[in-house]
Amino acid sequence: MRERKVCTLSVMLAAAFCAATFISVIPPAAEGDEKITPQKLFEQKCSQCHSLDDPRSQRNTKAEWTQLVKRMRGNGCDLSDDEAETIVGYLSKNFGK
Ligand code: HEC
Repeated sequence: MRERKVCTLSVMLAAAFCAATFISVIPPAAEGDEKITPQKLFEQKCSQCHSLDDPRSQRNTKAEWTQLVKRMRGNGCDLSDDEAETIVGYLSKNFGK
């Protein structure tokens, strides 16, 4: 009887350890993604060719930012559709008219 309890306990411990290892391996990647705020994305993507003051010195409507970001993609700015939308959102909120 006694041995059996110990055995069950060690299986549970092993399972818990496994789960802990699994969980501790997975989140950092997910967290890393989530930590990229719209501002960081903007700073990363839009500082590659010119100063961030170029966009920061402007005040545009959402439609104008959409056009501008589209033009930057034409200039060679590497953005996915989602990233472009995030940056347009950030710019129109913080540098809107
Ligand atoms: C691959 C290089 C590149 C990247 C990355 C880039 N730009 Fe540009 N940007 C340019 C070039 C070239 C010009 C000048 C020609 C032009 O205006 O299209 C410019 C000009 C500008 C101007 C001034 C032009 C105007 O009409 O007022 C703004 C504002 C601007 N970029 C914003 C941004 C924003 C916002 C991002 C990020 C989404 C960005 N840029 C990313 C190349 C880039």
